[in-house]
Parts: sequence; C-alpha cells; structure tokens
Amino acid sequence: MQRTTLLAGLLLAGLCAGCSGQKSLRSFRMPEGDAARGQVAFVSLRCHTCHTVSGIDLPAPTAAPADQLMLGGEVARLRTYGDLLTAIVHPTAGLSDKLPGPERKKMKTSPMPGVNDVMTVQELIDLVAFLQPRYRVLAPLYEGDYRLIP
Ligand code: HEC
Repeated sequence: MQRTTLLAGLLLAGLCAGCSGQKSLRSFRMPEGDAARGQVAFVSLRCHTCHTVSGIDLPAPTAAPADQLMLGGEVARLRTYGDLLTAIVHPTAGLSDKLPGPERKKMKTSPMPGVNDVMTVQELIDLVAFLQPRYRVLAPLYEGDYRLIP
C-alpha cells in the first residue's frame, strides 16, 4: 500500500515536470541506483519482452516487431534522468524520439503497459541506473574545423 502511495506521488511529481511554484521539481532528487539490480528488475518486470538493451545480453523479445525498441545505443540527444523516469512511469507523456517521425505521429498512446502498481520505487531507481549509461551521444560530424552537420 505504502509503495503504491509513494509511486502515485512520484507519478504526480512527474506529471508536473517543468511546472513552477509549488509543483516545481527543482529540488527532486533520487538516491543512487544499482545497475545490476536494475537489469534483474528489467527482466522480472518483463521489459525485455519488447526491449533489447544496447551491449547487454538479455532473453530475446517476444512482442510484435512494431512494439519492439532497442534502449540505449547512439542517440542524437542523451536521455536525462527525468526523460527515463517519465518514459517508465508515464510512457505516453514522452513518446520516444527513437520512433520514426510519422510512426510517432500516428501513435497516440504508448504500447508500454503501466507498471506503476507493481514496480517498487527501488526498482524504478535501479532501472534508470541500469539504462542511463547504455546511451551514447552521436558525435557530430566534423572535418577539420569545418562542422558538416550542426
Ligand atoms: C509492449 C511492449 C513494451 C514493454 C513491455 C515495455 N516497453 Fe518500453 N517502450 C515500448 C515502445 C513501443 C516504446 C516507444 C514509445 C514510447 O516512447 O513510449 C518504449 C519506450 C521506452 C523508453 C524510452 C526509450 C528512449 O530512449 O526514448 C524507455 C526508457 C522504456 N521504454 C523502458 C521500459 C521499461 C523499463 C519497461 C519495463 C518496466 C518497458 N519499457 C516495457 C514498448 C514496451
């Protein structure tokens, strides 16, 4: 019960990301997570049925190919802590920019099932610790001093 209340609080906090005043998230801090435990939670919460994770050996996904997405790897914009928290507790709020533009436009809600009633806060913290270091930023292309792609 207490877990659910905590998660509901977190979710509410997430919904108000960017708000100012009393709903501001400026002082919101999560404790350090444990990436190894995050990997265990990733499988026990069945995230692997839709996601592979760059550089990590996990049981193969079983979802329809349209519902599969690799997490981590090279991205144009690194994921902040807030990006990953939101992606997990409120997936529809921030549909991934890994999806091709037209597909994202068509998708009104994320196919990700809600886990807020079953995931512990510790699992959430550990999942983010597991996933965040898997992302690498795509290096901009330079030739000498000349920047080819902004
Ligand atoms: C039914 C398939 C499915 C399951 C199960 C699933 N996801 Fe997802 N997930 C998706 C799809 C599709 C997207 C892209 C759409 C979106 O952003 O919601 C996504 C997006 C994400 C993103 C954003 C990726 C990025 O880099 O932009 C994260 C992080 C994520 N999922 C984590 C998880 C975690 C953690 C779990 C387990 C608790 C999970 N997912 C379970 C299908 C799934």
